[in-house]
Amino acid sequence: MVVAAGSGSRLGAGLPKAFVPLAGVPLLGHALRGVLSCATVVQVVLVVPDTHREQAAAVADGVCRELGSVTPVTVVPGGVERGDSVAAGLRALGDEVDIVLVHDAARCLTPVAVFDRVVAAVAAGAVAVVPGTAVVDTIKQVDADGFVVGTPERSALRAVQTPQGFRRDVLERAHAVSSEATDDAGLVERLGERVLVVEGDPRALKVTTPSDLEAAARLLATS
Ligand code: CTP
Ligand code: MG
Repeated sequence: MVVAAGSGSRLGAGLPKAFVPLAGVPLLGHALRGVLSCATVVQVVLVVPDTHREQAAAVADGVCRELGSVTPVTVVPGGVERGDSVAAGLRALGDEVDIVLVHDAARCLTPVAVFDRVVAAVAAGAVAVVPGTAVVDTIKQVDADGFVVGTPERSALRAVQTPQGFRRDVLERAHAVSSEATDDAGLVERLGERVLVVEGDPRALKVTTPSDLEAAARLLATS
């Protein structure tokens, strides 16, 4: 599923982030190119703002035509928080699906190889898989007053991305408890299930701010 129902307040473009153009194509279009190029994907659930369902369907139609894809795309309205949107997407999955990928439309340039690595690891037996990259900055944990309370060993840290992949039953069980977390793997961790990290990719960056959009434009121009 592709979650694209956010407002994009930090980008501040005056329209939902997934519909903001990057080199003339909405971020959602770029994201769908990646998803629909992944050979193992059998259904795409597209979670969008209620106001943008038709526009989303038109973007999806365009990408399907461009790629010659016949993969069904189901468009559903999202919720207030990201977790609510994922929960809405889960309810729209077909019966035949047993591996679910949750992908942020905002990570619109994620290479197909990342999708393939995540799917392969779930298919090989992991219940939850996230792409991650080593962090370059030293990360500090701080208290409410801004004082450092700890410095985690950097070599043990990963910045995680999407698509995150799950055995469907495990993700549904996690969302049945709560949908509140910054990522879906966090919910699965609370169940006590093990989450595997596979290699992510810098091109899977999340477009959050105007400077991220510029970075994405540069990546697109040089790839
Ligand atoms: N998302 C969603 N439903 C929400 C909130 C977020 O589907 N209620 C999606 C966004 O569309 C995005 C992904 O989750 O693809 C990551 O969220 P984020 O980058 O925070 O996007 P926004 O919430 O749109 O941005 P902001 O927080 O700046 O408003
Ligand atoms: Mg947000």
